[in-house]
Amino acid sequence: MSEITSIESVQKMLGAQDYVCSRALATVVFLSLRLGRPLFLEGEAGVGKTEIAKAIAAALGRKLIRLQCYEGLDAASAVYEWNFAEQMIAIRTAEASGGADRDSLKTELFTEEYLIERPLLQAMRPQDGGAPVLLIDELDRTDAPFEAFLLEALSDFQVTIPELGTIKAPEPPIVILTSNRTREVHDALKRRCLYHWVDYPEFEREIEILQARAPEASEALSREVVSFVQKLRTEDLFKKPGVAETIDWAKCLLALDVINLSPEVIADTIGAILKYQDDISKLQGSEAKRILDEVSATLEPV
Ligand SMILES: Nc1ncnc2c1ncn2[C@@H]1O[C@H](COP(=O)(O)OP(=O)(O)OP(=O)(O)O)[C@@H](O)[C@H]1O
Ligand SMILES: [Mg+2]
Repeated sequence: MSEITSIESVQKMLGAQDYVCSRALATVVFLSLRLGRPLFLEGEAGVGKTEIAKAIAAALGRKLIRLQCYEGLDAASAVYEWNFAEQMIAIRTAEASGGADRDSLKTELFTEEYLIERPLLQAMRPQDGGAPVLLIDELDRTDAPFEAFLLEALSDFQVTIPELGTIKAPEPPIVILTSNRTREVHDALKRRCLYHWVDYPEFEREIEILQARAPEASEALSREVVSFVQKLRTEDLFKKPGVAETIDWAKCLLALDVINLSPEVIADTIGAILKYQDDISKLQGSEAKRILDEVSATLEPV
């Protein structure tokens, strides 16, 4: 991690992975790497929260281990499970080969051979190239008991398996947590982390992202697309389009050889940016044209 000497070096390192990073975001990433503190990223959908973990792992040459959260996620699925099927086979084989001694079988069955390592345990294991990046994605989808469990796991980076003992990370992983804020994550967990709200990028930065991710798009089309999407975000919509949608839309337009936006083109491709029928119907008729006219008026010809 010797290349991480400044905030600019973080921007440069992520830029090399085609990840465009504001100074504020680069600052928390820098601090998180320097201080070894988990990074908690909250923000709207599709603004690059998950992607930054991938970019950091790729840039540092570390393994990325992802724990995708969901409702009902429990410690067993997050840390480890015993491979019951394999254990059963071992028991049957021992029985078939004659008198299995219960005690020796027990010690034999609860060894690493029968352990299924889930992301949190994997993240405690030493890896080639250094400690891995542990991405705990969409934390807001889990429940409070799991959060409490995480709090403990993240404070000492060790896992205790009754049959095997305690496994401790030789070097703590680089931890990135994300949330879409469908509910508030508990203060105690947030306090352990450096926090950053990932906002929609401003105009020039979104153009830069588009150039990095869809370089085939002409400057004129990019400016139109970004302006239109940015304008849409100010409208009263159920689900505002993220950066991911901007990129998708530009790629769709390129595939259709579109050079300039028109109300017809927008109507045909609207499914790339809006994913709810109510939002789409709001944009039908003269609405798309109104927004497009407003956008065209603000864009200077390039
Ligand atoms: N700053 C950025 N630089 C480069 N690409 C970006 C950036 N932000 C977003 N993207 C692009 O947008 C896509 C979606 O980003 P990502 O999946 O990280 O969003 P997210 O914030 O995790 O969304 P969700 O909350 O829906 O999971 C990425 O695949 C990436 O191509
Ligand atoms: Mg994500």
